[in-house]
Amino acid sequence: MIHVEHLHKSFGSVHAVDDVSFEVSRGEVVGLLGPNGAGKTTTMRVITGYLSANEGLVSVDGVPVSEDGMETRQKIGYLPENSPLYLDMEVYEFLSYIARLRNVSAKKINRRIIEMIEICGLKSVIGRQAGKLSKGYRQRVGLAAAMIHKPPILILDEPTSGLDPNQIYEIRELIKNIGQERTVILSTHIMQEVEATCSRALIINSGKLVAHGTIDELLNRSGAHINYTVSIKATRRQIEERVTLLNNVNFGEWLTDELSEHQRLTLRCSDRTNHSEEIFNWAVKNAFILTELTHETTSLESVFRELTQN
Ligand SMILES: Nc1ncnc2c1ncn2[C@@H]1O[C@H](COP(=O)(O)OP(=O)(O)OP(=O)(O)O)[C@@H](O)[C@H]1O
Ligand SMILES: [Mg+2]
Repeated sequence: MIHVEHLHKSFGSVHAVDDVSFEVSRGEVVGLLGPNGAGKTTTMRVITGYLSANEGLVSVDGVPVSEDGMETRQKIGYLPENSPLYLDMEVYEFLSYIARLRNVSAKKINRRIIEMIEICGLKSVIGRQAGKLSKGYRQRVGLAAAMIHKPPILILDEPTSGLDPNQIYEIRELIKNIGQERTVILSTHIMQEVEATCSRALIINSGKLVAHGTIDELLNRSGAHINYTVSIKATRRQIEERVTLLNNVNFGEWLTDELSEHQRLTLRCSDRTNHSEEIFNWAVKNAFILTELTHETTSLESVFRELTQN
């Protein structure tokens, strides 16, 4: 549905987007993830036709964006960064204005606004001035404006930035619902956001695509492991002899000195399943007294840092 091939966009000497290629299929919710200045907004602005690429091809439903701006724009709903609204307009008036800009026929405008009030939860603010709304409600109005012409594709630039945790939750739920029938690309700095709303993530750093895949694939790809820490009343030699019997669990390192009565050590898993029960049973079977068994997962943040640190 969205096809981006060898996209380059520079501002003077700054390579904002540097040879980025990806595809987004119909019905996918894809997260564009990256640190500040990575090129997320620039990529989105090229896809939406607000900026032209220096090189490369971007097409929406087979239509190149640069050649037919109007046709592709009609298919896309865009929520720009910091959802700019006309602050002195009332919400209803604003949505009606945007609907006219988006070629919604006059007789359908009222019905579309009513639908948006329902979908975006705008009932309590519909008669209020946009400039007097809280940030969360402005964001909802921005989403309503992006969807007013029923575009099959939504491009949302940091839809939850600056919101409180309740509003973040609500907007994420909203995006999940929207994503059931539409194709969505959203940008974020937050790995958890992708986990909560997206089926897949594209990670960009300094204009380059550094990784893509589902959260699980990204965790695996970066060599993420579950680490266990165990304390066992046994000698090192006994443990060394038996540790090879565990499947997909390997010795990590010793945490106590060689002669200590309890050996404390780490074990690393080569897959992402939970092996606690297996480790417990292994200890029992070998008559090892297990006095500690804890595990920690490599965090999403550390994966993000690993992939985006320059
Ligand atoms: N209009 C512009 N003129 C000059 N440089 C620009 C312009 N827009 C973006 N840039 C530069 O391009 C790079 C990518 O910026 P972009 O806004 O795409 O990043 P981003 O990933 O959206 O960052 P953020 O998370 O801070 O929103 C940055 O170095 C930025 O300074
Ligand atoms: Mg941005």
